[in-house]
Amino acid sequence: MEKIIEALKEEAILARKRSIKSLFNSGADRIDLFTAEHGSFKIDYSKQNISSQGWSLLLDYYYKSKIDHKIHALFSGKPVNVTENRPALHFALRAPKDVRSLPKHSSIVADVHDELEAMALIVRKIRKRKWRGYSGKAITNIVSLGVGGSELGPLLVCDALQEIGSSIGDSIKLHFVSSMDGTQISQLLEVLDPERTLFIISSKSFTTVDTFYNVNTALKWLTSYSGSIELAKNHHFIGVSASQEKMEAWGIRKENQLIFWNWVGGRFSLWSTIGLPIAIKYGMDVFYELLEGGYEMDFHFKNSTPESCLPTVLALISFWNSSFLEISANAVLPYDGRLKLLPNYLSQLEMESNGKAVSVNGTEVRFKTSPIIWGELGPNAQHAFYQLLHQGTQDVSCDFISTVKRYHNGARPDVEADFLYQQQSLSLANCFAQSSVLAFGDIFAEKEEINPHKRYRGNQPSTTLLIEELTPRILGSLIALYEHKTYVLSCLWDINPFDQWGVELGKSISEEALRAIHEPNYRNKFDDSTKWLLTQVSDWSSK
Ligand code: F6P
Repeated sequence: MEKIIEALKEEAILARKRSIKSLFNSGADRIDLFTAEHGSFKIDYSKQNISSQGWSLLLDYYYKSKIDHKIHALFSGKPVNVTENRPALHFALRAPKDVRSLPKHSSIVADVHDELEAMALIVRKIRKRKWRGYSGKAITNIVSLGVGGSELGPLLVCDALQEIGSSIGDSIKLHFVSSMDGTQISQLLEVLDPERTLFIISSKSFTTVDTFYNVNTALKWLTSYSGSIELAKNHHFIGVSASQEKMEAWGIRKENQLIFWNWVGGRFSLWSTIGLPIAIKYGMDVFYELLEGGYEMDFHFKNSTPESCLPTVLALISFWNSSFLEISANAVLPYDGRLKLLPNYLSQLEMESNGKAVSVNGTEVRFKTSPIIWGELGPNAQHAFYQLLHQGTQDVSCDFISTVKRYHNGARPDVEADFLYQQQSLSLANCFAQSSVLAFGDIFAEKEEINPHKRYRGNQPSTTLLIEELTPRILGSLIALYEHKTYVLSCLWDINPFDQWGVELGKSISEEALRAIHEPNYRNKFDDSTKWLLTQVSDWSSK
């Protein structure tokens, strides 16, 4: 193992000195070696700064680290979340009813499908306009109150599938509220009708303070119209949580409770009843298609060799960039407006999972782990932060993501023939042009004209993921692809991707700070800077 790591470090020294262009000139068939495909996905990672020698070493590292055993441990329900001593079984949420591959957890798939049926009942009631508010009027607006994993997945999917058309049309509108500062909820309450608004409390723990401050505001608002807390709670709140007791204690009616389980990590939960907003907007059939797509990717992940396994290929590239080339930024750049929320979603998935410095056995991790993952719609980012990618001093690896088949059959009767199709081609052309310029620099420039301000240095590595088209099923596969990439990365780094202790301390200190805003004596607990900031709040607030 040590030898492989040393050899990879040597490779990285060579890589830092060479250009990506030189790899293409080296004679080997780079495209053959550095592209992969499965189903509706094709990946080109030839523009990464990795040689065929380096790639074999990465694969050696993969085999020597016994990543296949760790994948097996995940899928056989071993407690891979070691710090919380539990398995991570999110993949079971998308398993078809008849699958029995979890011997130690034999009832899980059946439990999942029972809960999906409970969700289907609620979905039907809402979509058939049979859900009534306290005054007997049908619900027209639904507000999902949740944060992090209890919001980002459903938000991404609801947004990405817009073009398949919501089968409830405009008769029921869906909103998401997460921000703790009250901006979103107060703006929404301005326009909502309390008699016709239903809230979904989405929270695995059913304790997250951000969510519950929004819940309390919503409850106060509803009660001021209904005149009764009980009426408000009974007719206007659904709970989705892993804690039935807490839903019970809060006063969610039994038939309005949907559960999921502690073995589902928050950021892996969109496949569970946390996906309720998706099912309300598009119907259960679409939700099942999404699950099927996820399940297909699970099958590919479990049954492919690492060289041909898309999640593993993406993970190995990220491992190489972060841990050996020490490139600490990774831009996610979709060239498809429907995926505009994917960068946000992946920020949580990858950084909350793999932003760790301690390995599974408690010792310090020996590599640099997760890079900073951020991004934006590629075409828009071209006019925002691409300048830094092209001419700045930071190394950034980029993930270009583009869909190919779109607007082929004259998408809209009110837009002449193939205008939208041309927009799609323009977007693809930009995607390919940008990755080419980032890798190779100003190859078309006249050699004599070397005005340094106009030079493009090139050598920014990137991967391009081509998606055939964006259906619910393919979207499901895409999200599962990144989940598995995240898991393989955690195995390569030997860290636990399923906990997030780093978030916990911030939560408890915030409670102390909240108290200190109102109680001056309590401020002494804090450092001088925080004390000063707290004092400024009370100074300004009292004027
Ligand atoms: O930010 C920490 C976190 O625990 C995330 O992992 C989770 O998705 C989010 O908070 C929301 O938690 P809950 O679903 O319990 O409200």
